[in-house]
Amino acid sequence: MLMDAPSKEFVLAGSLEELKIKGRLVVHGAHRPILVIYDRGRVFALDNRCPHMGFPLERGSLEDGILTCHWHHARFDLESGCTFDLWADDVPICAVEVRNGDVWVKTAFTQADPVAHWHQRLANGLAHDLGLIIAKAIHGQLAAGVPQGEIVRQVALFGAQNRDGWSVGLTILTALANLLPVLPEEEAYLALFHGARRVAADCNGEAPRRDRAPLG
Ligand code: FES
Repeated sequence: MLMDAPSKEFVLAGSLEELKIKGRLVVHGAHRPILVIYDRGRVFALDNRCPHMGFPLERGSLEDGILTCHWHHARFDLESGCTFDLWADDVPICAVEVRNGDVWVKTAFTQADPVAHWHQRLANGLAHDLGLIIAKAIHGQLAAGVPQGEIVRQVALFGAQNRDGWSVGLTILTALANLLPVLPEEEAYLALFHGARRVAADCNGEAPRRDRAPLG
């Protein structure tokens, strides 16, 4: 369902009564479908694409405010969109309002501060060595206009601080960083991803760098 709304940011999902009966509705937002869910007297709206592999969350099961994806069983908190399964990433949520018995949802998932958001997501992905999160965060940073060199810097600092010594990953990152100026956009993204992924793998389970007292 997609209808004109008093505010351009919101679309009408349906009546609250209809939502109560059906339990969930899918609204076609500006860019992607939005899943609207009624659960224990409250209404929630979230991206209908599972952040893991993009399959529809509308097939998921619901219990105690937790939505479990039908496909690989990643679990998401309805209220915040946060996942209980780090490999799946958080699902974006959007604002929802009930006005005069109708349910309206905001169709945009945009972050208030996309640069800070994707910087933190990359930090999380590196810390837990999660390829999916690293890939999304680098894509998000580039889309937000973060210079490639800044992404290299973030990854290099992570690698230097979270392993006691140089690693193959840092060598690969450095080599790829030197190639970035001559790579087309798509390949530059892949270079950043593979460099970051190798650094994260090298640091996984390693003791962080520690300062040593000088010999004396
Ligand atoms: S697509 Fe949802 S958990 Fe894999």
